[in-house]
Amino acid sequence: MAEKSFKYVIIGGGVSAGYAAREFSKQGVKPGELAIISKEAVAPYERPALSKAYLFPEGTARLPGFHVCVGSGGERLLPEWYKEKGIELILSTEIVKADLAAKTLVSAAGEIFKYHILIIATGSAVIRLTDFGVQGADAKNIFYLREIDDADKLVQVIKEKKNGKVVIVGGGYIGLELSAALRINNLDVTMVYPEPWCMPRLFTAGIAAFYEGYYANKGVKIIKGTVAVGFNADSNGEVKEVKLKDGRVLEADIVVVGVGGRPLVTLFKGQVEEEKGGIKTDAFFKTSVSDVYAVGDVATFPMKLYNDIRRVEHVDHARKSAEQAVKAIKSNEEGKTIDVYDYLPFFYSRSFDLSWQFYGDNVGDAVLFGDNDPASPNPKFGSYWIKDGKVVGAFLEGGSPDENKAIAKVARVQPAAVNLDLLTKEGLSFACKI
Ligand code: FDA
Ligand code: NAD
Repeated sequence: MAEKSFKYVIIGGGVSAGYAAREFSKQGVKPGELAIISKEAVAPYERPALSKAYLFPEGTARLPGFHVCVGSGGERLLPEWYKEKGIELILSTEIVKADLAAKTLVSAAGEIFKYHILIIATGSAVIRLTDFGVQGADAKNIFYLREIDDADKLVQVIKEKKNGKVVIVGGGYIGLELSAALRINNLDVTMVYPEPWCMPRLFTAGIAAFYEGYYANKGVKIIKGTVAVGFNADSNGEVKEVKLKDGRVLEADIVVVGVGGRPLVTLFKGQVEEEKGGIKTDAFFKTSVSDVYAVGDVATFPMKLYNDIRRVEHVDHARKSAEQAVKAIKSNEEGKTIDVYDYLPFFYSRSFDLSWQFYGDNVGDAVLFGDNDPASPNPKFGSYWIKDGKVVGAFLEGGSPDENKAIAKVARVQPAAVNLDLLTKEGLSFACKI
């Protein structure tokens, strides 16, 4: 089998890989030095589009429209861009074996790739209900969403099952964004999740109450406090019913499952240090193995702001960690140093006419402010999280760009807040004056 050798190899062709390629090009990379090896058939794109405009009946997003780096207002890197720069995009190629000691990767087709420096950017895989042996979970029309091929299957079934019934399993990011997108397609949508409120990883009960009310007003039905324990299919093998733990049975033509992701680190098991389910890195995304870096969803890195070690599964960090790693690689070659990664967590979501942003840490006491009536024509509300007398996190629904900047600043500056009643009363104006 052919053997190819590169100075730099990025394994994975998602968000981090695309932003890393742009940074390599900015820093100077010679033709033939860099290769991106991706299981996907397309050049790196902004993954968040898949659960939003990709599924909309109008104003639909399609490639090449959302290749990186348009999601952060940057240049759109079309496949031609990689060609012009001499960056080899090796697509539809899954790496099935990695030998970090021998600096060798092997693809499913048996191709061998050698590198001097490796960046691991394999992202996450979805957790499947078949992983826990849920009965009937391999029926047709039970979908997951991670890659563009998954999104294409959803687009197809939306066309096939017009006005059909959808059950969404999971009340996290995928659950909330997909139930909105499918409702906009005029499907009959029911969400099912085990927790007392949606998005419990981030939302307080007060924040969640707004979204649950808003979704209900849009016609999305919500069943909380139970899980899907089995599925019945028809004679074609297509899902027809979802059986819940509480005994209820829901009709379904389509099921979408969003019960979490898991970082793709199995290729490197036993070869590199891990922590918190990810590959342990330093503040330059260097792993315990020399010449091997890990970025994006798979990296467990030091978060300077909280003096903690964390893993982040969001696009802003995927972009910034990739840029940091490439800057570190290039400066190292020149014998220079760069500043350590000093990340301020930033998460966001959009659904229906809603749009929220969150910055910082959701720990300590939370206060809610503003108009959080789901029936309001222009709802705008938020939350602050206060720990040890300081505001450490801020959430805002319906903010303007300047207001979102203001809450980001609060989370970064961590101003003192002793009187929580006053903070509730001041609301957004507290952030705007920092
Ligand atoms: P990413 O998953 O982007 O890329 C990994 C790449 O590696 C893929 O191309 C994969 O095929 C490839 N790969 C894996 N194993 C391989 C192997 N063995 N061989 C070859 N290739 C391999 N975040 C946010 O902040 N706001 C948002 O709105 C959204 N929305 C959103 C929607 C959907 C549908 C998903 C799935 C995720 C989001 N996210 C998000 C999360 C965000 O997209 C995610 O954190 C980043 O894409 C992570 O970037 P990475 O480069 O780490 O992985
Ligand atoms: P998630 O962790 O956000 O949510 C999973 C949800 O499923 C939780 O509510 C969980 O309790 C629930 N759940 C777990 N087991 C269940 C079961 N058996 N039955 C029903 N519900 C169950 O994960 P996700 O929504 O699947 O998202 C996957 C990945 O994609 C994450 O990395 C996420 O960050 C990313 N993503 C991010 C965004 C965004 O940032 N806007 C959007 C989409 C996806």
